[in-house]
Amino acid sequence: MRIDILTLFPQSLSYLNESILKRAQQKGIIKINIIDIRDFSLDKHKKCDDYPFGGGAGMLMSVQPIYDAIKSVQQDNSKIILPSPSGKIFNMEMAKNLAKEEHLIFVCGHYEGIDQRVNDIFNPIEISIGDYILTGGELASMVIIDTLSRQIDGVITKESLDEESLNDNCLEYPQYTRPQEFMGYEVPQILLSGNHAEIAKWRRAMAKAKTQQARPELFNDDVK
Ligand code: ADE
Repeated sequence: MRIDILTLFPQSLSYLNESILKRAQQKGIIKINIIDIRDFSLDKHKKCDDYPFGGGAGMLMSVQPIYDAIKSVQQDNSKIILPSPSGKIFNMEMAKNLAKEEHLIFVCGHYEGIDQRVNDIFNPIEISIGDYILTGGELASMVIIDTLSRQIDGVITKESLDEESLNDNCLEYPQYTRPQEFMGYEVPQILLSGNHAEIAKWRRAMAKAKTQQARPELFNDDVK
């Protein structure tokens, strides 16, 4: 998959070059390309924002630099994503669907927002990561990209994907590593038993109990 991220703050996206996403890029599974919208401004001072017509608080990102930045990377198979509090709230189902795409273009808004004509011209998919307001779309883009990337074949192991939280609306069971005892806190005996069938049963029961207790709204009769 190829991902282009259009931003006024390229350095703020450095998290995408760490850990699992760094390895996914090294393996050639994902190609992430960060584009500085400012490079596309036709203004002699590289200005990319302006006052809103009709008055109002703050500045808006101008349409021209974003238009040209999108056009520089857009192909027939591109999906344009605009992280925004007006979008549909992001979830795993959306992440799994986005993971099947060949090319995503993220447009990171900043300041008070983006000139409406970016929406009118490109009809992007607006996605919100929750009912709160961030200072810009960069953090939201990283949340979405991080989440969808782990759904792409080869980014993490199939076992990790199968076992992770929110599969079948269920949270993950508690996990332990060495030491066996820490300050009087012991690893549950069952995990040391070597009885894989019993361990699987225990994990499922713990996962169900945790979901019921911590996220009852996720829990439904499908969780077996
Ligand atoms: N930009 C500002 N707030 C946001 C949010 N909650 N989700 C996505 N993008 C945003």
